[in-house]
Amino acid sequence: MKKNVELQPISFQSLRETDQSFLKQSLEATQKSYAPYSEFYVGCAVQLESGEVVLGANQENSSFPSGLCAERVALFQCAKDLSDRVIRIAVCAKSEKYEVPVPLVPCAGCLQVISDIRNRQKSPIEVWMWDLTDQVFVASDVNQFLPFHFELKEVK
Ligand code: THU
Repeated sequence: MKKNVELQPISFQSLRETDQSFLKQSLEATQKSYAPYSEFYVGCAVQLESGEVVLGANQENSSFPSGLCAERVALFQCAKDLSDRVIRIAVCAKSEKYEVPVPLVPCAGCLQVISDIRNRQKSPIEVWMWDLTDQVFVASDVNQFLPFHFELKEVK
């Protein structure tokens, strides 16, 4: 079974106002990043079906493994009540120490969490990735990245 991921860059300037402002909210979220160890500041915006946008930023910790990625900070808040489904997630990052990857794909742990929410709510989640240049990458569904994601099913 072959599954391909296709991501084409879209010009930020060519996006609709609503899409630009959605991405800008992820940038605004980087202000709340606490990343003194990596100096890699990640922001995330999650848009719900109701229109509400929930923001998240990476939170590091002096005990390194105790930190959390921006995506999960926002997503776990949304996952409390998925009657308001997650429609899309935007991620951006800034750093003077590291290059921002292009495209800025969420880490595998975050993809698993997005994917799990997708399956719980039974509807796709778009992933918008922005490296703060004019290039934006949009995946129409998280399952483009994790077509074979881990899932538990109860024994019948
Ligand atoms: N990080 C995120 O917030 N999201 C990702 O998808 C990848 C990495 C954070 C974790 C850590 O605080 C910093 O970026 C460097 O890895």
